[in-house]
Amino acid sequence: MSQEQQTGKGVGHLIGAATRARECALARYSNFCVGAAVEAEDGTVYTGCNIESAAYELTMCAERVTIWKALSEGARRFRRIAVVADTERLTPPCGACRQLIWEFCGDIPVVLANLRGDTETLLMSELLPRPFDADFLEETGAEKK
Ligand code: THU
Repeated sequence: MSQEQQTGKGVGHLIGAATRARECALARYSNFCVGAAVEAEDGTVYTGCNIESAAYELTMCAERVTIWKALSEGARRFRRIAVVADTERLTPPCGACRQLIWEFCGDIPVVLANLRGDTETLLMSELLPRPFDADFLEETGAEKK
């Protein structure tokens, strides 16, 4: 059985979904359009784009929109996430998104892609070494307070 058969559809499928989601970006202030797609353990793909607010700090990245959509639809375990932007240097998730991808998806592959067909895959543990997460809260019992 090929790797693709074992893991469901190929990564091109996920990049395609993120690329299409990018078309929906609401990025009137930065003009920087990003799309993302996360694949759940059952193969379902959830997508999102960045959405910018006139109150700039309320802007939401494509990765977080995607993860909120997946979690709010009941998905809990994830295989990989793709992020697509129109940059020569492949755009990685920002720091806030790295934290949330780590917390909700764990050490999954992050597939970076642009519109020219360049791709690179990194593990979350490479993008966010030495992460802070709920394990630290459990260690002190802080979550019970
Ligand atoms: N942005 C994302 O959606 N994801 C990233 O990985 C990097 C940045 C968005 C946020 C904002 O709407 C625009 O790109 C410029 O920062």
